[in-house]
Amino acid sequence: MAKITFITVDGTRYDVTADSASTVMEAAIRNGVPGIEAECGGACACATCHVYVDEAWREATGEPQPMEEDMLDFAYDVRPGSRLSCQIRVTDALDGLVVRVPERQA
Ligand code: FES
Repeated sequence: MAKITFITVDGTRYDVTADSASTVMEAAIRNGVPGIEAECGGACACATCHVYVDEAWREATGEPQPMEEDMLDFAYDVRPGSRLSCQIRVTDALDGLVVRVPERQA
């Protein structure tokens, strides 16, 4: 179980609770966080679940795997900290995670 904060472009914060073994994308969808579309349902095939991981959390969330890296090429406005939220698995170690939602998805 982990608390995750999503911050949208207008600065609105959405504090949600996510089950361990779910993904950050699933937590966003379940809680109606705007701006996370997740068109492929978590298959790493759409890049519409793109988020920016807060700098303090980049080590804990780890690096994207090659398949995610390839898909990130299709995301809008990729920056350091860009991840596909369907590829970030929730663990207790991510309690307090902060991610930002991009201005728009791919
Ligand atoms: Fe499609 Fe994450 S939901 S890539």
